[in-house]
Amino acid sequence: MKNKITYFETISSTNDYLKENGKSHGEVVISNEQTKGKGRLGREWKSNKDEGLYMSILLRPEIDIENIPFITIIAGSSILKALKNLDIDAKVKWPNDIIINNKKIGGILSELKVTKEDKINNKKQIKNVIVGIGINLKQKHFDEELREKATSIENEGYKISKEDLVVNILEEFEILYNEYIDDNKAQTNKNNTLKIHRENSAIIGKNIYIINKDNKELVKCIDINENGNLIIKKQNGETKEISSGEISIRGEFGYI
Ligand code: BTN
Repeated sequence: MKNKITYFETISSTNDYLKENGKSHGEVVISNEQTKGKGRLGREWKSNKDEGLYMSILLRPEIDIENIPFITIIAGSSILKALKNLDIDAKVKWPNDIIINNKKIGGILSELKVTKEDKINNKKQIKNVIVGIGINLKQKHFDEELREKATSIENEGYKISKEDLVVNILEEFEILYNEYIDDNKAQTNKNNTLKIHRENSAIIGKNIYIINKDNKELVKCIDINENGNLIIKKQNGETKEISSGEISIRGEFGYI
C-alpha cells in the first residue's frame, strides 16, 4: 500500500474530502483542524486546531461487501498496536472506540461507497471505503455531557508526538490489512486482528447495555467472532450475534 499523504491546516472533514477527491488506494489525508468533523451515528466529532489527530485513509478493497465491517476492526487493532508501541496501554470498546482509563480517547468512522445494483447479478460493487480515525491528543476541556466519558492522551499523563502516532498507525494498519486482504480470495486471515482486539477488549467478559434507539438491554458480552460481530448472552440465557450497525454500548455502571 503506497501512502500518498496530504496535509491540511484546516478542512471540513478528512472523510468528506476523500469522498469527493480521493483517487488511489492507500491515499491518506490529515488535517490539523476539522470544521465539520463527523462521528458515528450522525454525531459531531470535535476537532479543534492542534489538539488531535484527524486522519482518513482511502481503500479500494476487492472483497465482498459483507466483509467490509471487519476493516473497522482492523483499524481499531492497528491503533491499539500503535499505542502499545508508544508505551500506552489502551483498550477497545467494540466496534470502534479507543479507551484509556475507562474513557474514550478516539474513534473510527468507516464509510462505504458502493455502485448501483448490477442488473445481471443483482450485486453492488465497492467503489471505496474511507476509514476515518480521530484521536484526542491534547484536549483538556470537555463539554459537560462528555466529561464523564471522554479524555485525551495528554490528559491521561502520556506525551507522544502526532507524527510518531501517524507512522505507527499506518504501519500497523498496513500489516493487518494486507494479512486480511491477501488471503481473502481463499480464506481471510483475521487471526492477528482478532487476537489484538480480544486481548485488549474493554467489554469482553463484562455486563454491558446494548442501546438501540430507545431500547436498552443488559447483557453479558462473551466474545467477538470471525465476522467481527459481538457475541452476547441475554438475561434469558439466549446467545446472540450482533453487528455494529446503529447500536451503541454502555458499561453496567458508567461509560464502560
Ligand atoms: C466516533 O467515535 O464516533 C468516530 C469518530 C471519527 C472521527 C474521525 S476524525 C477524522 C475523520 N473525519 C471525520 O469527519 N471523522 C473521522
